[in-house]
Amino acid sequence: MPTLSDLVARHTALDEADLDWLHSLVSDWQLLADLSFADLILWAPLLGESGWIAIAQMRPTTGPTVYHDDIVGTVAAKGERNLIDTAWNERRICREGDPDWSTGVPVREETIPVRRAVEGGEGRFLAVIQRSTNLSSARTPSRLELTYLQSASDLAQMVAEGRFPFSGEEPILVRSPRVGDGLLRLDRAGRVTYASPNALSAYRRLGLHADLVGAELGRVTATLCYSDEPINEDLMIVASGRAAKETEVESGGTIVQLRAIPLIVGGGRIGALVLIRDVTELRRRERELMTKDATIREIHHRVKNNLQTVAALLRLQARRLQVPEGREALEEAVRRVGSIAIVHETLSHAPEEFVDFDEIADRVIAMAGEVSSPEVAVTPRRAGAFGVLPSLIATPLAMALTELLQNALQHGRPKRLQVVVESAHERLNVTVWDDGRGLPSGFDLDSSTSLGLQIVRTLVEGELSGRLTIEPRLEGGTEVVLSIPLPPS
Ligand SMILES: Nc1ncnc2c1ncn2[C@@H]1O[C@H](COP(=O)(O)OP(=O)(O)OP(=O)(O)O)[C@@H](O)[C@H]1O
Ligand SMILES: [Mg+2]
Repeated sequence: MPTLSDLVARHTALDEADLDWLHSLVSDWQLLADLSFADLILWAPLLGESGWIAIAQMRPTTGPTVYHDDIVGTVAAKGERNLIDTAWNERRICREGDPDWSTGVPVREETIPVRRAVEGGEGRFLAVIQRSTNLSSARTPSRLELTYLQSASDLAQMVAEGRFPFSGEEPILVRSPRVGDGLLRLDRAGRVTYASPNALSAYRRLGLHADLVGAELGRVTATLCYSDEPINEDLMIVASGRAAKETEVESGGTIVQLRAIPLIVGGGRIGALVLIRDVTELRRRERELMTKDATIREIHHRVKNNLQTVAALLRLQARRLQVPEGREALEEAVRRVGSIAIVHETLSHAPEEFVDFDEIADRVIAMAGEVSSPEVAVTPRRAGAFGVLPSLIATPLAMALTELLQNALQHGRPKRLQVVVESAHERLNVTVWDDGRGLPSGFDLDSSTSLGLQIVRTLVEGELSGRLTIEPRLEGGTEVVLSIPLPPS
């Protein structure tokens, strides 16, 4: 389906600023549809003003729709839709006397010209909103419906006067409260003239015992949410309905989102609508997730610290040993513990189920290069990317890598040492090759009893369900290949 921008660019003479205004209108016109209990269609004049094209459509969440099909993209010739033509030509809201039955249900049509405010000018007319109310379920309107309809007609007037949507309002990231979440209507002085049942419940949960209707909302809200914390400046502005703004208030464990829509008609402020939504559950779940994340991060951080302590103890002991083999063995243990610590450190920054393994691999590779004996002047390199891997794979893979790099540096004494990564068909193939002295004659992985390769084998075949091969390279040196399956992403 073509977007609003596509349709405007292709079929109309509207410019960038016009388009911004229309985007802003349709991002907020659910409010108008809900208050009107009506469908809205936005018609823009075609190039050369030969007719109209529907560029956006909105259904009410408070009542039945008229249009079950998509209207966007439909074209109407001049003269075909009188009400649209009149609203445009005479720059005023038009209303039809009798219901239209052409869709099979009684529909009341209204049209609202859309004006964009222009500083220091009269503004520019951009389009026409067609508002269609399905009357088939209409009954004697309640107080709620009357308030909604009155508010809708005020908003419609604001659209025609270039006062709605509010320009310069910050984009709303969380979903704003909707009409059905709770609605209050305030008079000019900021006193409540109507409170929908949901809005009243939200205030009851905030701790209000008195009546809401007749009360000054700003003062009531401030009293309820009184705390030692610095005063929320937005609170008074929003709760008194003086500016188009949103804020959140909290009291007695309840968190309520407030959105003020000042009603400015015919040049004067006549009052405001305040939409209200109880977001206690939403915020509670958010906080829970945040603390869970923080806890997991903290655990990884502590594990890393503990491992570093273990490594430090081993290093101390190694220094005191006179026997070279004993010392080497302890130093190797230090490296093994160190590479696990690296993984936990990475996880302590990103406690997600997935980690960027390239970062881990590079640190493991750098560490192997640093601690290798000074006679071996080689910097191990990585080619290819591991990418993002499940955390479960990270620890065993980092350890295996440490062992293999260690072996190459220790036994091969190569000039070049590389880690090559390829992933294909949900498998990760990691090759560690060197151009060193090569494997001793008669080497056999299966009958090797030393610890290093045993560890690698256990990790690769056991924990990673993969395969391990170690072979001499044709050009000299050794090549070790790990092939491990990855869970389908
Ligand atoms: N890249 C390599 N180049 C040459 N020989 C190697 C290479 N990798 C392994 N080897 C040979 O395989 C043997 C077994 O390696 P393994 O890592 O299991 O034990 P290690 O390195 O001798 O001792 P450690 O248990 O401390 O690792 C090594 O002793 C070495 O002879
Ligand atoms: Mg080894």
